[in-house]
Amino acid sequence: MNRRLIIAVDGPAGAGKSSSSRLLAQRLGYRYVDTGALYRAVGLLALEQNVDPADCAAVEALCDRLELRFLPQPEGIRLFLGDRDITMAIRRPEVSQMASKVSAQPGVRQRLLSVQRELGRGGGVVMEGRDIGTVVFPDADVKFYLDASLEERGRRRYAELRAQEGAESLATTMREMAERDQRDSARAHAPLQRAADAIVVDTTALTLEEVVDTLLRWVRAVEARVDQDGGNRMA
Ligand code: DC
Repeated sequence: MNRRLIIAVDGPAGAGKSSSSRLLAQRLGYRYVDTGALYRAVGLLALEQNVDPADCAAVEALCDRLELRFLPQPEGIRLFLGDRDITMAIRRPEVSQMASKVSAQPGVRQRLLSVQRELGRGGGVVMEGRDIGTVVFPDADVKFYLDASLEERGRRRYAELRAQEGAESLATTMREMAERDQRDSARAHAPLQRAADAIVVDTTALTLEEVVDTLLRWVRAVEARVDQDGGNRMA
């Protein structure tokens, strides 16, 4: 297999996108790109600078000053805003909500679109988010849509948050997640939706390993088809 694919992974919060995309990328020797981290960085800045997420001009100005870099470190990929490591700060629940609010602004989406396309340039990438298969890379080679029940997604997110300071209750985590799903799916610009040609994987009853194995089987099938198509063209 010579051609390095673009693999899009979309779905709601807590569906298992990040963990499975990271492992899938590792198994394939591909880059892993977490696009939610970009929206979270804008959300973090909006919170810290008291910017109203409904104020288009102010939020867009934050994007224009955004100096973001994903840096691979021994412990994993870290996100830097200028010289500041914001990897942990962007995971806070209030940043999740703010990221969801600022991401509804078309000006923000437009500005981050070119960043995401640049990060996926040349292929060999597993990119996860909400609109990767529909807007960022509508011609992606493989598109996955991961989903799970709200209860299971809430439990997973709660388990992650419990490890951090200032954890909320399970009920609060689930309420906030449902709010975020609703906002992300109902927005006018690039809402969360399944691409017509996406492979749907319900992860509710699957372990992380099982999810990764499922994704990998699909990718291998697409690779075989791409190789065959290439072969046929050469014949
Ligand atoms: O994937 P995440 O939970 O880290 O994303 C945080 C928010 O960012 C999410 O609620 C909506 C927004 N987002 C988006 O609108 N488009 C993407 N491709 C990724 C995230």
